[in-house]
Amino acid sequence: MIRTPSLLLRRFSVEDVAKVFLMSREPGLQEWIPDQVYEDEQQAAKVLRYLIEKYEDPGDPRLAALVVGICLQATSELIGHVGLSPLQGEVEIGYAIEASHQGRGFASEAVAAMCAFGLEGLGLARILGIVHKDNIASCRVLEKAGLVLVREEAGTLHGRGGFVRRYEKARPSCGGR
Ligand SMILES: CC(C)(COP(=O)(O)OP(=O)(O)OC[C@H]1O[C@@H](n2cnc3c(N)ncnc32)[C@H](O)[C@@H]1OP(=O)(O)O)[C@@H](O)C(=O)NCCC(=O)NCCS
Repeated sequence: MIRTPSLLLRRFSVEDVAKVFLMSREPGLQEWIPDQVYEDEQQAAKVLRYLIEKYEDPGDPRLAALVVGICLQATSELIGHVGLSPLQGEVEIGYAIEASHQGRGFASEAVAAMCAFGLEGLGLARILGIVHKDNIASCRVLEKAGLVLVREEAGTLHGRGGFVRRYEKARPSCGGR
């Protein structure tokens, strides 16, 4: 469990399934991460069970996704997710915030906290943020969370073509900025 000034990042439980399904159907996910849009609650439950299993085995984002729920500290309401996942020998950060709670700095707060956990808590050397250039809010989140733009090139991400940006944040002792 990770606390930030406004948020609580906590493990998912099977009781979260209805909300996780609803959040997956929002327009922002349909547009930017359509592979995380679920057909029905059964599919959401299957993904949730997989994520819950991975907390213990292997419990290491270099090997399998480590994704937690983002909750408001004030009310405990689940409003999104943030996670670290393996990507070609590296670790990538992913995130989403429910539309009704966007624009209040919550994604930036959650991403910064998750990066600190990965770099300092888990001892990762580096965390990547891979994002479409046109996903302006997401690019801004990475920048506000202290990731640095290192590359931008034509490519495909989540089935969508365009310019893809690679951001990075390294552990200070590993030559990070
Ligand atoms: C990307 C996402 C997580 C941002 O969540 P959020 O809680 O609103 O993010 P924050 O409030 O921390 O920061 C958003 C920043 O983007 C800015 N922003 C948002 N839309 C913008 C736009 N169209 N043009 C310019 N800036 C924009 C906001 O002003 C804010 O920056 P600021 O604090 O400097 O003003 C949310 O939009 C989302 O869930 N999108 C769908 C899923 C997704 O794209 N995930 C990332 C995949 S790589």
